Amino acid sequence: MEPLLDRLGRPLETLRISVTDRCNFRCVYCMPKEVFGRDYTFLERRELLSLEEIARAAGVFASLGVRTVRITGGEPLVRRNVEHLIELLAAIERPDGSKLQIALTTNGSLLPQKAKALAAAGLSRVTVSLDSLDNAAFRALNDVDFPVERVLEGIDAAAAAGLPVKVNAVVKRGANDGDLLSLAERFRGSGHVLRFIEYMDVGSTNGWRLEDVVSADEIVGRIGERWPLEPVELESPDATARRFRYADGAGEIGVIASVTKPFCGGCSRARLSAEGRLYTCLFAAKGHDLRAPLRLGATDEELAETVRGIWGRRTDRYSELRTAETAALPKVEMSYIGG
Ligand code: GTP
Ligand code: 5AD
Ligand code: SF4
Ligand code: SF4
Repeated sequence: MEPLLDRLGRPLETLRISVTDRCNFRCVYCMPKEVFGRDYTFLERRELLSLEEIARAAGVFASLGVRTVRITGGEPLVRRNVEHLIELLAAIERPDGSKLQIALTTNGSLLPQKAKALAAAGLSRVTVSLDSLDNAAFRALNDVDFPVERVLEGIDAAAAAGLPVKVNAVVKRGANDGDLLSLAERFRGSGHVLRFIEYMDVGSTNGWRLEDVVSADEIVGRIGERWPLEPVELESPDATARRFRYADGAGEIGVIASVTKPFCGGCSRARLSAEGRLYTCLFAAKGHDLRAPLRLGATDEELAETVRGIWGRRTDRYSELRTAETAALPKVEMSYIGG
């Protein structure tokens, strides 16, 4: 099969699927309470793609070359019966007969109850967000007073269910940049890969300022001073994270430097919102509606043709072009598109 390439020669390999725009946290860098308060209007049930519609769309993307689907939100585990979606996705066959890799990014709060069922349904791996081990700092960041210990229980539950685990920490200056070493120490030797994420200007509600970004170089420098680090070759051009291994063999960390070292050059990620809009960049202002054709009886081949057309015209490389002006433009919210 000819790979489907965009205008910059990038294939379509990963589909990030947001299954809900709701979340039980109110992280200050993602869903600030002033905006996502009582009066905020979330998507209604009938607006959401059903689990079957999502799986059908994923099948079409798989036929076009997608290898990995990543379930996101909001918080994906608040979507009812998300385990069933995993089952449906696990049944999809790619054109070469192989199966999709199914990943999930979660805040971890519901993993103690759900990890076993997710693994049994066919989930391949899980990424848990945890920005600090300091309860005061973490509770202030998630803004719903959620304690660190319960996220750690979620991580343990995922590992106990046999799922490979990554841990994501968004670093925001003045909020948790004092917690880098304690996070690194906690996950060194655990088998879980800890990734530090530069605070990004996603959406239009989090009041992002360049001064609040802690650069990946600073992060790697500070950790490497305490435990020497060596760079690891990237195995894939579409990776988000640059990898570093501890020289003493205690595993590795990653840094996701979307602000200071953008990685649009190999970006093979498409995003499907919970209401069925396709976005070709995290920072796009607009998506393409796939729900209408899905509900109006389009065939799989017609849907595939629509996606081919959209991907074939794609030129997005927002992070490489970021300026103070573009950072101020209207963009889709992180909680809507799932990061
Ligand atoms: P792996 O496949 O396990 O490496 O996951 P991932 O890093 O692709 O996904 P994850 O959901 O863990 O996202 C980590 C961080 O990278 C989040 O802050 C995402 O918003 C960000 N991210 C993921 N994909 C992109 C992208 O295409 N562009 C930008 N700018 N950021 C991205
Ligand atoms: N900048 C960087 N990462 C963010 N995330 C949420 N908001 C931001 C932001 N403004 C992270 C979450 C989660 C992942 C999907 O994106 O913490 O780990
Ligand atoms: Fe929820 Fe994740 Fe956004 Fe935090 S970063 S508010 S956990 S969706
Ligand atoms: Fe891909 Fe857009 Fe992120 Fe660049 S900014 S890596 S094009 S999603």
